[in-house]
Amino acid sequence: MNKPKNDTFLRALLRQPTEHTPIWLMRQAGRYLPEYCETRRRAGSFMDLCRNPQLATEVTLQPLARYDLDAAILFSDILTVPDAMGLGLYFVEGEGPKFERPLREEWEIRNLTAPDPGVELRYVMDAVAEIRRALGNSVPLIGFSGSPFTLACYMIEGGASEDFRTIKAMLYDRPDLLHHVLEVNAGAVTAYLNAQIESGAQAVMIFDTWGGALSNRAYREFSLAYMERIVDGLIREHGGARVPCIVFTKGGGQWLEEIASIGCDAVGLDWTTDIGAARKRVGDKVALQGNLDPVALFAQPEKIALEARAILDAYGPGSGHVFNLGHGISQFTPPEHVTALVNAVHEHSRKQRQI
Ligand code: CP3
Repeated sequence: MNKPKNDTFLRALLRQPTEHTPIWLMRQAGRYLPEYCETRRRAGSFMDLCRNPQLATEVTLQPLARYDLDAAILFSDILTVPDAMGLGLYFVEGEGPKFERPLREEWEIRNLTAPDPGVELRYVMDAVAEIRRALGNSVPLIGFSGSPFTLACYMIEGGASEDFRTIKAMLYDRPDLLHHVLEVNAGAVTAYLNAQIESGAQAVMIFDTWGGALSNRAYREFSLAYMERIVDGLIREHGGARVPCIVFTKGGGQWLEEIASIGCDAVGLDWTTDIGAARKRVGDKVALQGNLDPVALFAQPEKIALEARAILDAYGPGSGHVFNLGHGISQFTPPEHVTALVNAVHEHSRKQRQI
């Protein structure tokens, strides 16, 4: 068994005791780091960077060289899966991701099939294996995917959307069609995450960025039910170690109990939920991950440390907390402010354990 020297992240996800609260940041490798921008320039484009295992490894390691982070996350994107389904992913500067061939017609939806992760997504598996080699046994590597619903938002809208009117019109008019897309996506995501685990990912996270845009009733039927299916199909043990699974619905605070009961090991929280109250609601069912407002990183370092301590105190003593932001780090974040956050989380959580 190849146990990382610093396995606080894995232990916290399994609610086992740790010497400090582990921390990593969503989008920790990204445009706020000048070294990332430099590597991306060398690669040519964001997708060229994702498709090159050596360069993807280089950027995965960049935040770990700067900060005392407790986990690495695969450098890739959730939209590699629909790209591999043939939708034609591209990025427009300032406008985010887009698809050349969004799903609109019934025949296009009926023809949709899950990619073979070992073929169309081979480059991701190669990156996972390469990153694991480069990490040695320092910290664990997180693999990830989008949720079936969040992927469907981009696949059907064709890009980012303010109101999700195309996918929601389909949800209300033709729920059978949307269910078909979600079913294909759930199969694709399960195979994709399992392939990442077999290639060396030591924990996995499902990003349900847009589940919180659904109505109360629609969330269970069109997002949560499909994440449950994925969790049911995941490899839970690999190489003699448990592979924990984290589910994150942005805007999902009102559904915490239900998310906690789909069989995942941890639930990600955005910054609108009180983590102490969330802990009481989920009890000892799952660990919690979160939940600093990413925009708090624009405040002065002393204020960032205060916010971090307030979250640690709200969670309270005992294990089961992985510190993170409530969503991805902003590209405009001053990199030195992240140092203040990571150090505050480690120092304060060590002190908490001495009381
Ligand atoms: O966390 C990490 O460091 C791992 C890498 C990662 C990226 N995207 C890299 C990336 C992860 C986990 C993601 C997930 C992702 N991608 C999500 C779910 C999480 C979330 O943030 O809500 C979503 C919705 C996407 C789709 C996507 N990809 C968006 C909205 C964007 C930003 C577009 C923009 O121009 O702002 C991307 C591109 C992207 N993915 C970047 C990075 C570092 C920036 C691209 C660049 O370098 O130009």
